[in-house]
Order: sequence, then C-alpha cells, then structure tokens
Amino acid sequence: MQTCGRGPWGTVASVSSQAPSETTTDSSTDPSTAPVGVSAPLDPAGRELPQFADPAPLSGHGPARIIAMCNQKGGVGKTTTTINLGAALAEYGRRVLLVDFDPQGAASVGLGVNPHDLDRTVYNLLMDRAVTAHDIVVQSNVPGLDLLPANIDLSAAEVQLVGEVARESVLSRVLRPIADEYDVILVDCQPSLGLLTVNALTAAHGVLIPLECEFFALRGVAMLVETIEKVRDRLNPLLEVDGILATMYDSRTLHSREVIARVHEAFGDKLLHTVIARTVKFPDASVAAEPITVYAPNHAGATAYRQLARELVARGDAA
Ligand SMILES: Nc1ncnc2c1ncn2[C@@H]1O[C@H](COP(=O)(O)OP(=O)(O)O)[C@@H](O)[C@H]1O
Ligand SMILES: [Mg+2]
Repeated sequence: MQTCGRGPWGTVASVSSQAPSETTTDSSTDPSTAPVGVSAPLDPAGRELPQFADPAPLSGHGPARIIAMCNQKGGVGKTTTTINLGAALAEYGRRVLLVDFDPQGAASVGLGVNPHDLDRTVYNLLMDRAVTAHDIVVQSNVPGLDLLPANIDLSAAEVQLVGEVARESVLSRVLRPIADEYDVILVDCQPSLGLLTVNALTAAHGVLIPLECEFFALRGVAMLVETIEKVRDRLNPLLEVDGILATMYDSRTLHSREVIARVHEAFGDKLLHTVIARTVKFPDASVAAEPITVYAPNHAGATAYRQLARELVARGDAA
C-alpha cells in the first residue's frame, strides 16, 4: 500500500434523444412533495417509494461486486457518485475500493489524494506486470474506503494497451488479486467509450449510469447501451445494467420532472427510486476534498447517497 441475459433494457430501440419541452417552476404537481400522511411517499417518477432498510452487518468481506460508473457524457455526476456512494457504503460497514479510471484524476483529488505526488498509479498497474494493486492502493480518510489513484499518465494507457494481448481484460486481471478483500469495487470511468471504458465494463458485474436531469440527457445513451451489449456478447456475459441514477434533479422545475418521466418511460424499473438533487454542496465538498457524507453529513445530498447505498443493497446490486 502507498502512503498517502437478459438484455439490460429490452427496449433499447425506443430510447429517444428528444428533449423535454420546457422549463418552468411549478411545484404543485411534484409527486415527491405530496402531503405526508395522505398517501405513501412517491419517488420523482411517481412510483411508491419503498423504505430501504439499513444494510445488515456483514460477517466477513469479499469477494467484491464490481460496478462501473459509466456515461460517455462528461459532467453528469459519475465521479461525484463514485465518491459519495463509496463513502455511504463504507459508513454501512462495507469495505469499498474506488478505482480512478479517468486520467483527469478527479476521484483521487476529490478524496484528498494528490495523484501527482504518487510514484505509481493505475497506469503502472495496467502497464507493468510487476506492479500489483496492493502496491498502489491508498487509504482515504474515510474508514473502509480505499482508492486506486490515477493521474494524466493514464491517458497514455489507452494507446499503449492497443498492442496488448487481451487488451480489454487488463483491468479485470489486475483487480482479481485484491477483489476478495472488498465488498464493492466502484470504477469511475472517463467520459468516453474507448478502451479504458471497455476494460471497466469487462471487469464489472454491473453498470450504474448517472444521467443528468437536463435537456438531451438521453442523447448518447443508446450508444452506451450498444457498447454494454457488445461487451456482454463478446467479453463479459454476466454484465448487467444495475440502474440509471437521475442526478442534478431540481424538483421545482417541470423540466426536471419531465426528464425523469421520459427516462422512466424508456427504461422502466432500471430507473432507480433514489434521485440526486442539484445542490452546490457537491462542488463545495469536492473543493474540500471530502465526500458529502463527511463534509455535510446531515445535508440532503448526503442523505440521498445513503439512500442510494441502501437501495443498491436492497436490489442485490451491492453487498
Ligand atoms: N447533484 C449535483 N448537484 C450539483 N452539482 C453537482 C452534482 N453532482 C455533481 N455536481 C458537480 O458537477 C460537476 C461534474 O460532476 P462530476 O461528478 O465530476 O461528473 P462526471 O464525473 O460525470 O464528469 C462537478 O463540479 C460536481 O461537483
Ligand atoms: Mg468524472
């Protein structure tokens, strides 16, 4: 350790990239703000919101379920979700490993690790057979949450891996020796569908797709689904889509609610009940280099990521 089978959707063809019609601020019909006591609480898609129980304590750890955080669009909340879901699962006693798989290194920086100070990163793990995951793993300040850090070096791997034997399976191979020590491994993908992302999908059991509640949110998702299906057919038959997470949600706008309705229409119950609201606390927490669960533990953003952790455990998508 360093010191510091089903098709995922069924109706892929129906995925539309149309934008919802307008943006207004009308909260009167928002199901998520329905009066308490009149009926069961609803999620923003208008479905009954289950109460997700606290995950039961584990008697031991591992082997990890590997989840790739994937969307080729940038700025949709992949890194934010990786860090905060990881921290929330760790709070529930899970041993969590985050893999920073983006040359931007945002997951590393967001956990207070300066990846430029490190001799070895995920890049060395991929390219040098003498380097093991144990050599490069760093502990974060959150108990139970470790990190395989990345920096700009990783951008060279995309090109250098092309000549490797089994170039799509390199991440899978290097994670194998460490996977038994963790309950969940979250891979923070870069915003592209290139070879690094294909490596993440080949290593993963499940994919989580953060989707920003914005115009054209669905644009590009059909291509992502196609990539996931190709990887499942050719490289990783067990790969499944765990869920779609709506991020940057603003309950005051009809627009946000229309995006949720459109995503629900296209993907049904792949749309998770948990929705992450838009709040400046997330960028604030990144500046402080802490998960929101540490930076503002009582804030709604922290509560939402804890609910996401409980929902994924309840669905069987996390330990
Ligand atoms: N729910 C949210 N509300 C407001 N800002 C957010 C939210 N989630 C993420 N952000 C901010 O948006 C930017 C992009 O998020 P990030 O997680 O880095 O996206 P990605 O990894 O998909 O590129 C960051 O500045 C982050 O702090
Ligand atoms: Mg990112």
